[in-house]
Amino acid sequence: MLTYTPPMGWNSWNTFGANISDKLVRESADALVDLGFKDAGYNYVVIDDCWSKLERDENGRLAADEKKFPYGMKALSDYVHSKGLKFGMYSCCGVRTCANYPGSFEHEFVDAQTFADWGVDFLKYDFCYKPERANGEVLYRRMSMALRATGRDILLSACNWGVDNSGPWMRSAGANMYRSTGDIVDNFQSIKDIALSQVDKLCYGAPGCFNDMDMLVVGMYGKGNVGLGGCNDAEYRSHFALWCMFNSPLMIGCDIRTLTRESAELLKNKGLISINQNLDCRPSFVANSVDQHYAFARQLSNNEYAVGFFNMDETEGEVYCLLSDVGLTQDSGYAFEMTDVVTGEQLGTFREFCHPKIGAHDCKVYKGKLVKI
Ligand code: GLA
Repeated sequence: MLTYTPPMGWNSWNTFGANISDKLVRESADALVDLGFKDAGYNYVVIDDCWSKLERDENGRLAADEKKFPYGMKALSDYVHSKGLKFGMYSCCGVRTCANYPGSFEHEFVDAQTFADWGVDFLKYDFCYKPERANGEVLYRRMSMALRATGRDILLSACNWGVDNSGPWMRSAGANMYRSTGDIVDNFQSIKDIALSQVDKLCYGAPGCFNDMDMLVVGMYGKGNVGLGGCNDAEYRSHFALWCMFNSPLMIGCDIRTLTRESAELLKNKGLISINQNLDCRPSFVANSVDQHYAFARQLSNNEYAVGFFNMDETEGEVYCLLSDVGLTQDSGYAFEMTDVVTGEQLGTFREFCHPKIGAHDCKVYKGKLVKI
């Protein structure tokens, strides 16, 4: 299986858009290693749209823009691999990419071979400029087959934004992760809308193929290509915790070379990442929702549970979760030994409910070990 748990890495789009280069990708790969992101699990370095020439070369192959990538893609891929990281690139199932570069429509097998020749390990595959007559589901199956035909393991990151009700068919089409939402922007409204839109779709994510809620905006603070407004640290905490609770791939979207300490610590938070990477890969369920207060819970391996308390309201408040809604009865003889996974604080034993006080747009995530009392 190409990916058992949600893939993790860095992608150029959110901050850099078309403003990408060999230098940026090498420096970002260096930073992933030097700043401890690789050790935390982030291992894919992905170049998004705008890397190619505006037209194919004389042999009908995609070609890198020499101004941005003067040494070519194979040399860059070799560099990324030399750091112990994996190399990702981007194309589109339509005739042009979303930013109007050549797409892979009816060039799938030759493009897959080009990517394999360059040592690509991950292909993000978008959905713009798809001819009306073409069936999107078939196009994803086709690229999946083309990638397999190369004989190289290349993860297929489908990006059709959840249109054509893609949840039920993306796994059978061969995707390893698939964008189940529209594009994120760097503000809390976007984070909240994306998260809530996934609640009834989480059942489609499981080992081998995960719902992708889009690249992270943590650490962007309003700067960059999708930096519309920006968030504060509490909002980024909720964003990252939601993506972890919901098993989304974790693709960093900020400039990791200049990241603040708060954002770096959040993105490397072991407790939250351990929930995202939990081998049971079970979806979260809504344990409680009252107005803008949400408690999401999920089963983890080894008799553990995670409960995430999210205050999406504008004012501080207590977010409730009745543990009977997670499954615990009072006469069961069991209780939860809770730990705050963000701070590591041990919170004691709980049998009936939890109701942490949480600031506006902030969250708390508890891990509960089921123990006999
Ligand atoms: C679409 C995708 C984005 C990004 C851009 C690139 O909008 O959803 O994630 O890849 O295209 O043009």
